[in-house]
Amino acid sequence: MDEKRSPSLPHVHVPVGTEDLAELAAAAQRCQACDLYRRATQVVFGEGPTPAPMMLIGEQPGDREDLSGRPFVGPAGELLDDALDAAEIPREQVYVTNAVKHFKWEPRGKRRLHMKPTTSEINACRGWLEAEIAAVRPEVIVCLGATAAQVFFGRAFRLTQSRGVLEDGAPWASRILATFHPSALLRMKGGDEGEYTRVRRAFTLDLAEAASAVSFRSTRVRYRGARSSASA
Ligand code: URA
Repeated sequence: MDEKRSPSLPHVHVPVGTEDLAELAAAAQRCQACDLYRRATQVVFGEGPTPAPMMLIGEQPGDREDLSGRPFVGPAGELLDDALDAAEIPREQVYVTNAVKHFKWEPRGKRRLHMKPTTSEINACRGWLEAEIAAVRPEVIVCLGATAAQVFFGRAFRLTQSRGVLEDGAPWASRILATFHPSALLRMKGGDEGEYTRVRRAFTLDLAEAASAVSFRSTRVRYRGARSSASA
């Protein structure tokens, strides 16, 4: 298999000339570009159609994702599913992935506690994310949280200042929008109810704003001929 060495990351071997996500995902399982592979169960690669009009990028897999090998299947994924529904975005037409593909954690009693990836860990994964973007060719990229947004806008990016804005996405997509990470919303649950409702609504509106930049295939069920059979 041909492999490309990133000039800035000579230790990363991403297959070139393939837009086959299964091939990319299989190659990523062997990635040792940073130390996160040592503690993680497996690489959690992205999932979804190719091409896809919209790509959602989170931070890194959580506990449930690490065990199942699939992105956003735990509590954050459930909240994300609900918000996509509310924004009338069909999840099956969206490609979902993470900036970092291994779960970073530390033991806390019996639990595995999520740890934020460092800049060098994010950079070590960048080749995989770029390969996914090349394969998926999204029209709009939605960054869920600051970690994903900083991949595109640099470390100075602040969610508090630039959230919910459809930015020029060149060279990755037509548009890029950054919004909250669903885990941030989960952490607010049980606190100030009014604030939680406000942020949850803002999250849905941000997703709807991103969706306004693309067109999804219609998912409406058409009851063709229903009237004629009813009157028959
Ligand atoms: N949080 C993320 O950023 N990604 C996942 O896949 C799950 C939780």
